[in-house]
Amino acid sequence: MAISANRNIIIVGVGSAMSRSLAMWLASLGWNIALISRTETSLASIAEEVRYAAPAQNTIKIVHRAADAGDPASLTCALDWCLQQLGGTLDVLSYNAARVSNSSITELTPEELELDLRVSAIGTLVAGQWFRAHARVESVADGEWPLYLVTGGVLDKHPDPSVASLSIAKAASQTVSRIFAQVLPEGEARILVGMPLVAGRTVDPVSGEYFEQYRPDKIVQALFRPFFEERERRQNGLEGWTVERQL
Ligand SMILES: NC(=O)c1ccc[n+]([C@@H]2O[C@H](COP(=O)([O-])OP(=O)(O)OC[C@H]3O[C@@H](n4cnc5c(N)ncnc54)[C@H](OP(=O)(O)O)[C@@H]3O)[C@@H](O)[C@H]2O)c1
Repeated sequence: MAISANRNIIIVGVGSAMSRSLAMWLASLGWNIALISRTETSLASIAEEVRYAAPAQNTIKIVHRAADAGDPASLTCALDWCLQQLGGTLDVLSYNAARVSNSSITELTPEELELDLRVSAIGTLVAGQWFRAHARVESVADGEWPLYLVTGGVLDKHPDPSVASLSIAKAASQTVSRIFAQVLPEGEARILVGMPLVAGRTVDPVSGEYFEQYRPDKIVQALFRPFFEERERRQNGLEGWTVERQL
């Protein structure tokens, strides 16, 4: 199924894996892209790579902004700035930020858990509320809906003791997403929620290589792409929309 060109997305939480592949793919389709994460140097180099994925030079807009998604003021300020850079319209907001690192329930400090809750759950909440006020809804009548895409996994259902803090934080953030999925399509906002859920670790901890089925570009095509295809084909509104897709 074809995906329209010349749409706008902001991706929050940008690194070398899924978010980078998502941005590269959308750039190749002619989308304008704003990237947000904390590290200016890695953001700048990913933005440069993404720029080269465009169908032709200088045909799309790629901007980036360093911000901490766990800090509501920092996140909101960055989202406002990105929206302005993209010309004031936004079709898709991807919330991808998480701290993926090991932690043990017997040694986890309240501060560390609070940090993860901030990045995962509070960031998802703040970004979703912000998007409600800024999503482009003009084309909903033609069957094209704005999309709030929140990357997740299965730690909420199958908590893993080796990533205790992330498991707890993801349970909270995925509940935020599921409640948004019930509320955001209603009223004036008319926003779809999509939850691409990756069911395992993408990288083999022994070899440091990606597991073949979880290579980031494969994940984007198999798991993310259907949300982008389906959001444009909503002649019957929410009917048939799938909130959660798992790979
Ligand atoms: N990797 C896996 O095995 C796996 C499995 C299942 C689900 N997931 C989920 O998939 C998503 C993407 O994971 P990924 O491994 O593919 O990573 P990724 O897309 O390559 O990058 C995620 C980026 O988020 C940024 N980030 C972290 N904390 C942030 C904060 N407070 N504010 C702003 N940005 C922040 C980090 O960049 P900075 O450090 O520069 O801020 C990081 O590089 C996550 O939500 C993760 O939970 C991952």
